[in-house]
Amino acid sequence: MDTLHIAPPDDWHVHLRDGDALDHVIAATALNFRRAIVMPNLKPPVTTTLLAMAYRDRILASIEKACASGQYSSSEQAILRQFQPLMVLYLTGATSPTEVDRALASGVVHAVKLYPAGATTNSEAGVSDLLGQCSAVLERMQTLGLPLLVHGEVTDAHVDVFDREARFIDEVMVPLRERFPALRVVFEHITTRQAAQFVTEQAGVDASGRQLLAATITPQHLLYNRNALFSGGLQPHWYCLPVLKREEHRVALLDAATSGLPQFFLGTDSAPHARHLKEASCGCAGCYSSPYALGLYAEAFDAAGALNHFEAFASLNGPAFYGLPVNSGRVVLTRNPQDIPERLPFVTDSGIVPLRAGSSVQWSVTERA
Ligand code: DOR
Ligand code: ZN
Repeated sequence: MDTLHIAPPDDWHVHLRDGDALDHVIAATALNFRRAIVMPNLKPPVTTTLLAMAYRDRILASIEKACASGQYSSSEQAILRQFQPLMVLYLTGATSPTEVDRALASGVVHAVKLYPAGATTNSEAGVSDLLGQCSAVLERMQTLGLPLLVHGEVTDAHVDVFDREARFIDEVMVPLRERFPALRVVFEHITTRQAAQFVTEQAGVDASGRQLLAATITPQHLLYNRNALFSGGLQPHWYCLPVLKREEHRVALLDAATSGLPQFFLGTDSAPHARHLKEASCGCAGCYSSPYALGLYAEAFDAAGALNHFEAFASLNGPAFYGLPVNSGRVVLTRNPQDIPERLPFVTDSGIVPLRAGSSVQWSVTERA
């Protein structure tokens, strides 16, 4: 198979940032994905429906700026303008059940995100004791069917960084699902065999037939193991959180993504940071993958001999989970190698380094309609 015709994909986990950074990255997401679940870890975080609505307006304004920039053809502009940002609230100890009501009523907020305090970029305002601090909110989300998106790592400094996701399953995920069995949960950017197995085995559906537990998987966790971080020297552009794991975990994730099971779907976790902030004595976590993500995912599915399940992962399972229609139109991917530049323009002259910079990807998007 050298071409893939699929319904237009969505990105169920992306960081679009704000201001100038947003203007630099918005087109890469909006050209390749019809919708995206937009992460709320801005400074300050997007903790209310009002803030989420204002952020959504800035994203749509950024699309218009891209269209007016002269960089995109009229057919590309038409694609850009179809983009729908799906907003997410950042959960804090102060989030109220009434805020959950407002979120759902707004029609623009599609989920609430748990950042364990201290787990990652801009997580300081997050939650340190989920069941202790947030039970009333979780109860309301369970009743209303609003999904909880989870950054699944414990933050205890004594726990080995490579064990934090597996420990989170036992210490937070299992008690959470025992206490709120009908709460709809996405285990975001899973990185371990244990998480893939947990999501596979705990599968179940609500009264409307929607999955109760699902997971997103990034391109870097399907294509690389932790050796990538140290190959020939310290490689900051492969550093993200949760960090890349051993090969056995990558293989388990690839098995899950390519299984065709409805609870696994695409979420790039594309997380742009300027080059100088990653190539630093204390480098930021995050891989910037949006521009080439679809080709990278197709490459991973191709290597697994599972291109027949690519559309389910990229375009069908996510909408089914979120109760949204599959996108109309189509996207064509071709086995057509494409160079990935060393650097792309970003907010400062230092630019931004995309995932697999200076190399190539075996698949590319050749048609969008
Ligand atoms: O690598 C990451 N970068 N992981 C996250 O959880 C956050 C993200 C970011 O916002 O930079
Ligand atoms: Zn993320």
